[in-house]
Formats: sequence, C-alpha cells, structure tokens
Amino acid sequence: MNNVWKLCLGTPDPLSSLLALSGATLDPSRLSGGACPLAAARIETERVRDRFVLRIPLSAGERLYGLGLSFEKMRVDYAARHLRCDHYAGRDTGRTHAPVPFYVSDAGYGVFVDTAEVASFYMGGTVRTDALNPPPELNRGRDDNWSCNQRAEFVEVSHIRADERAARDELAAFERHGLKIDVLGLEPGWQSGSYPCTFEWDRARFADPAQFVRDMAGQGVRVNLWENMYVSRSARIYRDLLPYCGSHQVWGGAVPDFTLEAAREIVLRQHREDHIGVSGYKIDECDGYDQWLWPDHARFPSGASATAIRNVYGARLQRMFYDDFRARGKRTYGLVRASNAGAASLPFCLYNDCYSFGQYLTGMATAGFCGCLWVPEIRDASSAEEWVRRFQLGALSPMLMLNAWANGAKPWQYPEVESIIADTIRLRRALLPYLYTAFYRYHSEGIPPFRAPVMDDPTLTGREDASSGALDGTANPYELRAARDVTDQFLIGDALMAAPMLPGQTEREVVLPRGVWHDFYTGEALRGTVRYACPLERIPLFVKSGGIIPLLREDGTLEARCYGERGETTLYDDDGETFAFERGEYALIRLAFSRPPESAPQSDVEITAHNFETAYKRVTFVPVG
Ligand code: GAL
Repeated sequence: MNNVWKLCLGTPDPLSSLLALSGATLDPSRLSGGACPLAAARIETERVRDRFVLRIPLSAGERLYGLGLSFEKMRVDYAARHLRCDHYAGRDTGRTHAPVPFYVSDAGYGVFVDTAEVASFYMGGTVRTDALNPPPELNRGRDDNWSCNQRAEFVEVSHIRADERAARDELAAFERHGLKIDVLGLEPGWQSGSYPCTFEWDRARFADPAQFVRDMAGQGVRVNLWENMYVSRSARIYRDLLPYCGSHQVWGGAVPDFTLEAAREIVLRQHREDHIGVSGYKIDECDGYDQWLWPDHARFPSGASATAIRNVYGARLQRMFYDDFRARGKRTYGLVRASNAGAASLPFCLYNDCYSFGQYLTGMATAGFCGCLWVPEIRDASSAEEWVRRFQLGALSPMLMLNAWANGAKPWQYPEVESIIADTIRLRRALLPYLYTAFYRYHSEGIPPFRAPVMDDPTLTGREDASSGALDGTANPYELRAARDVTDQFLIGDALMAAPMLPGQTEREVVLPRGVWHDFYTGEALRGTVRYACPLERIPLFVKSGGIIPLLREDGTLEARCYGERGETTLYDDDGETFAFERGEYALIRLAFSRPPESAPQSDVEITAHNFETAYKRVTFVPVG
C-alpha cells in the first residue's frame, strides 16, 4: 500500500466498523498528502429521507473486487448491481460470514467505508439522470450490445441513519398502510455514544428530545429507549459512577455495580433528567457469560461475586427501572435480555437474537413455569409465508414486536400478504381486553397469561393414541415413556389455546387439554388429539367450552364470542397508565351467556365500577357454532 487518504463526511457514527473491534481509528501518520487516485472532488454525499448516501466515482472499464467473503462471484462491479453488507444477507447477496465494507479496484486503489451499519453497495449499476457521461441509449431491436444493466460513473453506498425525522416518517408510513404503532423503540443510535453508552441524546439526530417524545405521545405513541449498561467515558455520569463500577470493562464501558444504591441513584437521576416522557427501556446485553461479560474473577465494590452479579444483573436492572417508574406513579412495559427469579413479577419481556421459529414457539410454552414473559420478535423471513407465520406467533405473545433494527423491516414488505399481516395485527388489537384481563390475573393471582397446556391439565401428553383418553396417574410407566411433552402449543388467559403453524405446514396435530374445546373460527366441538388444517390467514386457535372471548371492535364496542352452551367470564379494566387501581379504581365487567337447546340464547353484562368508567359498556354476544 502506498498511501491512505481519509475523508470524513458529516458527523461520523459513534460506532464504526473499526471502532467496533479495537477502538482503533486510522493512524494519522499513515495518511498521505499526495494526490488521491480517486477524483476526490467528485465524491458526493446526500441525505434521502432516512438514508445517508455516498457516491464514489468509477471509471469506465474499472474492475472491482471485495466486499467480504463470497461464495458466488469474484467481481463485484456492474454485474452485481446491489450488495448488502449484512450477515443475514440472503435474498440479494447470497450467504456471507464477513460483510466487509471494503472493495479494491484494478485501477490501483481500495475504498473502505468505515461504517458498522448494514450498508447497501450499488457497484456501478445505478445511472443517474443527471450523469455527466451517461451510457449511450441503445435500441434493443437493432443493437447487439444492448443490455438491461448500464454502466454508471459512480459506486453508490447508502445506509439508514435514523433520526427524529426518520422516526416521524416511519410513523407516517405505518399510518399510510392503515397500521397503528403503540410503542416506538429507538435503537442504539439515539445516544450520543453507544457501545459503550452515554445514555444522553444525540442532539444532531434529536434536537429537542422532550418535544419529540411529547409529539409522539400526541399521536398515541410511546417511546422506548435501547440501552446496555456499559458506561462510556464521555457519559456525563462516568466520573461519579466510576467508584461504584467493577474491575473490568464490557465493550469499552465501565460496569456499574447496581446492587449498590449509589450506582442506581446516579444512573436514575440522569435518566429522569434526560429522558423526559420516555415510557420504558430495552435493556440489552445483560445476559451472557464470561465470554463477553466480565470474567469470573472480576471484582465489584459491593463485594458480591462476579458470577452472582452476572446471574442477577438483568433482574436487578428490571427492578431498578420499575421502582423508578413506580415512584413517579407511572407504569412501564419494557424489554430485557436476562432475568431471574426476583424479576418474575416485573413488567419486562425477554427477547433474544437466535431467531429459530421452533425455539421461539417452545419459549412461549416454557416461560410460564418461571414466571417470565417471552417475546418471539419478528425481524425477517425467507418467504411471505414465513413472514405471516412469524407475525401470527408474535400477535399471540406478550408483545407484538417488529425488530427492524438490522434491516429496516416493514410489516408490508411482502405485498402479497400485506392484508393478512394487517388482519393479524387487528386480531391482536381486538384481543387486548382479553389479554389485559389475563395480565390482571397474573398480577393478582399469579396465573401466567401465557403457559404450557400441561400447567392447566397435568394429564396432558402428546401421545398419538388419543382414543384411550389422556394418561392419568394410574397409567403404566411404558405408556408414560411413550408420551411427549407438548411444547408447540400454549394457553392464553383462561379460555384460549394457540397451536401456531410453522412455516411449511398446512396442517398439524393439536393436543387438546381435558374436556371439550371449540375451533375459534367455526365453533366446531373437538376433543383429544386432532389433525388440524389451516389456511395461511388463520392461526389455529381453540376455545374451551363455556369460554367467552371478547373482541374489541374498531367502534370501541365488544363482540363477546361465546363457545359451548353456557359460560361466564369477568373482564378487568383500568386506566392502563397509573397505579390508581391499587386504590380500588378499576372496573369489573361480568359477561355470561347460556343457550340451552330448547330456548333462545340468554346473555348478560354486569358492570361493577370502582371509581373507574370503563369504555366496555356495549357488548354484543355472538354464539359461535
Ligand atoms: C442486539 C439486540 C438487538 C438490537 C441490537 C442493537 O444485541 O439483541 O435486538 O437491539 O443489539 O445493537
């Protein structure tokens, strides 16, 4: 290598590709003052909505190589119009394990775009209408050289640089598609520094954060902030916090010992001052082991062992944030990547990057045993069908969450299933009164809102042979050994069971707990083990006989879907925001129905309001089946 030129455009991202690893930047002594082989004056940048665009000149006939490990092509110019520097790659790039934003030219130079973002590289295939030397227009009928790919005079690189405007645009796009967001989560870039974190707003991206949060609230959208708790030297609380931090860093940041009240107070005071109006946090990367958190021999000022602190770090953080919201009389609902026994009662959902559909479904069944809430987040899919099935699973979980952090995913990204996705989101919204009641029972009685069917029916097994009935305590051990645990179904609230379809399935086996159950859609009575066929737009859902599933309609009234001959249920409602319910401000809405064969269906609504006016006053009973 002869010379290195560095060009810095705008405000660099706090996390770059080089910084991610070593904290390294380009060594200034290697920078050259000589002439750059690229026409530097022709390097252009542009902001297009939420994307930052970089344009690098390209000469005719130049050949380009690089952009990471490839199993397909060697040259990356021209023929490959679009390459994404992304581990997930897949659809347009093919598999890669090293999405490196560096290419070399046979003209004797290389270009390294120092970004940690998922960047799109258009390698000389995007011709602009204002090109200085546009390729000649050829006639396909006459010119043998005609090609649908035209050689451009630039390589174009773009990546999303989310800021306040991008967030507002995002909301507007959801609105255009008839979808409503309740919570907008801002990922690391909202901070002036992240990995390690400052916990302070990046004022270049969010000029007036409090106003931004207020504007969002005005549109019915709450703001959630991503954080991991490893503190940057440039955080204004760094100095105060340092005496309360452990002996080892994580990702370049100091690790506060949150078992100490002083550490909690410093962090919370700063959060209260800076995060006005914020509704909750996504507490990331507090899971893990000594591979990337602190080593077993790390020391913490409280004197607690490094391993114990690691095991309860996420739980302690949930308690810290919850207590702070509570002290201000506000509820919160957040995300966290590690939990433990002490946090079972706290309003945080666990999430993870593993992205295995089967494992995400198993998590729905197992989470109830330890009292945690598990969220099968939605990120990406390899087909429209998988996209639908992922949304269906998400819609029936503690939080329907689209994690667009890595790829800017949108619910409508597969146009052919957009209406199914919209219906799935609508079903979620319609189920809110039912889910809210299930969460109330969790809070008041400890019954997990999402749980394995075996929790309600300990005799439940996944035996193929259902004719002999469910196993009971008297079954012989051989039969017991033949049984399998049912991990791909889960109960929701007191009357509903989901048996989600995996991508590729058109029918599946469903093991029903004891008694009669009904198909949610048709009301058909079922029992035992059944084979269930299901079109893409439906999620296999079953209702216990006597169950009432209230669905919230768009006009604010309830449609109480009734299954079986008679039943009753009590819905819970309160202000959803504060702790006034603890002072008795809530409403109970008792719904009952009966339809003996010989008489017309009877139904009844009885509201017990305790200083709280419920909106659920108009109920239409709909017998199903
Ligand atoms: C990951 C987390 C993702 C996203 C990302 C941001 O650790 O699991 O959901 O938040 O960090 O850098």
